[in-house]
Amino acid sequence: MSKVRQIRHLITENDFSKDEIKDILSKAKIFSNIQSYDKLKDKLIITLFFENSTRTRSSFEIAAKRLGAKVVNLDIGTSSSSKGESLEDTVSNLNAMKPDAIVIRHKTSGLPDSLIKYVDCPIINAGDGKNSHPTQAMLDLYTIHEHFNGDIENKTIAIVGDIKNSRVASSNLRLLPRFGIIPILVSPDCFMPDDDIFEKANSLEDVIDKVDIVMSLRAQIERHGQNYYKTPKHYAIDYCVTKEILGDKDIILLHPGPVNRNIDISDDMLSDERCKVLQQVTNGVAVRMAILEKLL
Ligand code: NCD
Repeated sequence: MSKVRQIRHLITENDFSKDEIKDILSKAKIFSNIQSYDKLKDKLIITLFFENSTRTRSSFEIAAKRLGAKVVNLDIGTSSSSKGESLEDTVSNLNAMKPDAIVIRHKTSGLPDSLIKYVDCPIINAGDGKNSHPTQAMLDLYTIHEHFNGDIENKTIAIVGDIKNSRVASSNLRLLPRFGIIPILVSPDCFMPDDDIFEKANSLEDVIDKVDIVMSLRAQIERHGQNYYKTPKHYAIDYCVTKEILGDKDIILLHPGPVNRNIDISDDMLSDERCKVLQQVTNGVAVRMAILEKLL
């Protein structure tokens, strides 16, 4: 009897069970001490980024290369998308070259999911619109888990900023509560999502005494279509995470990047040892190695 291997995709964090995610965290811990390993030696991964990216694209590429895989980064500017080819046709053509995985980022929510029927390999969502950014949420979870030595149940996280338009927030709000982490949403009304599941506040100062983790987010101005604030500085007056707000509290500070300095987080907090922004970037490679190894 032939054994047909079912293709697994990573479109949202809900595609993995809690046990599978725990397994990814353990594997990532091992990978964090390994510079190279030839587990995916014969594999080829295509990355397809229709939105700008510094961290996520290079993190996937480095993760793949550390596992011995080859990576083809399709340059969207010079691809046939600009000659009028549909995205489905572009992906079908790339699939015909038999890659072992396609990593995709696109501004349209739901797009990676809609491409599954055109491919014979895993699709990994590297961010779709406001919808989901599963690998970012998993590296955030890993960073929290690492800092608290696994003791994360009932820890409270304040997510600060443009929650409504952030796929990082959406993914974390689905993932972190599965591990017992309690979110508090901190944002102005214009950036506050509609749901009634989580505690909400308009100011970080109002809730700071009960939080263990602060996650700052950038205002997703590319998705706004209007100016909510006269200038970024006006937003920063109330939502920049500063040393005055954090005081000497035992709190860790996260941000997925790109950070707008002195708008999202003040200079002094960015150089404070409680700020884990660069640790998140380091952890992102290890977590993506674990995810690639699992899916391929
Ligand atoms: C985020 C994204 O693209 O969703 N960045 C990232 O992947 N590290 C967050 C953002 O752009 O604000």
